Amino acid sequence: MPESVTSCKACTWALRTKRPPRPDLYPVGVLERPAVQTTSVDHYGLLAPRADVALAFEHVNKTFPDGTQALDDVSLDVAAGEMVAIVGPSGCGKSTLLRLASRLSSPSAGEIRVAQGNLGYVFQDPTLLPWRTVQSNVELLAELAGVPKAERARLAADAIALTGLVGFENHRPRALSGGMRMRVSLARSLTMRPRIFLFDEPFGALDEITRERLNGELLGLFEREQFAGLFVTHSVSEAAFLASRVVVMSPRPGSIVAEVAIPFAYPRSPELRFDPDFAATAGQISARLRANLT
Ligand SMILES: Nc1ncnc2c1ncn2[C@@H]1O[C@H](COP(=O)(O)OP(=O)(O)OP(=O)(O)O)[C@@H](O)[C@H]1O
Ligand SMILES: [Mg+2]
Repeated sequence: MPESVTSCKACTWALRTKRPPRPDLYPVGVLERPAVQTTSVDHYGLLAPRADVALAFEHVNKTFPDGTQALDDVSLDVAAGEMVAIVGPSGCGKSTLLRLASRLSSPSAGEIRVAQGNLGYVFQDPTLLPWRTVQSNVELLAELAGVPKAERARLAADAIALTGLVGFENHRPRALSGGMRMRVSLARSLTMRPRIFLFDEPFGALDEITRERLNGELLGLFEREQFAGLFVTHSVSEAAFLASRVVVMSPRPGSIVAEVAIPFAYPRSPELRFDPDFAATAGQISARLRANLT
């Protein structure tokens, strides 16, 4: 199976435009990734040296052709099997950072290193193809990767079971709730067994209860699949609940102004949100966010 298919431009184009893919335009697997060469980077002094870095940004700048500087000297690494959350004001470059990690965009300066293996990308919008059933939407990436029919049906069935969608295989997206559509989006990426997962506010449009339920389900998947995750959110509570580290960005041009270590072991129960220590940790993140808004 080709590497990195979930970040291929054909897939993204199909998902964004909701039009049939044109794999001829950007061949699947075109975005082969180099192995990570950095083995023990510790830019902020918060973490012990790590042997296995999945994703590393090194002094990354991004200025768009119109002169907008989105990112300024961002250095960050995510270890294999680690979940890192990013919070920051609107327009500070969070989505830009994920696009750079997925190679949908190139940095103006600096380096981005991504470990070998498939890369999953979950957008804020579930980006489902409306004419396809749940089963067929979940199979899409495997189909684009040329996985034989029987095998992709099996991969999709596994992902559908993992995301709690059994019984809805033949539904079309319009017959699903917002939370179920996000589950389909997650399931679609899961079929490729990504080693690195990028999440761009995937639950931002959902009500709080649904979001909290999906946070729990996502952590279940994270613990089971052990991918590295980079999770962008506007919710401090969501960031603290999911991640082992929360990175705080400044307003544009975005730079990293703080990292807060989250001192709670996995697995995390929903009740953690009511723990006074959790509230104190979330308060630290909020304070750092606010300090950089003025
Ligand atoms: N293709 C582009 N050309 C020019 N400017 C861009 C382009 N894409 C993004 N920008 C600008 O870069 C900045 C960062 O955008 P980005 O989408 O990364 O922000 P964000 O932190 O994800 O914001 P939000 O929280 O609202 O999603 C913004 O000022 C945006 O207008
Ligand atoms: Mg964004």
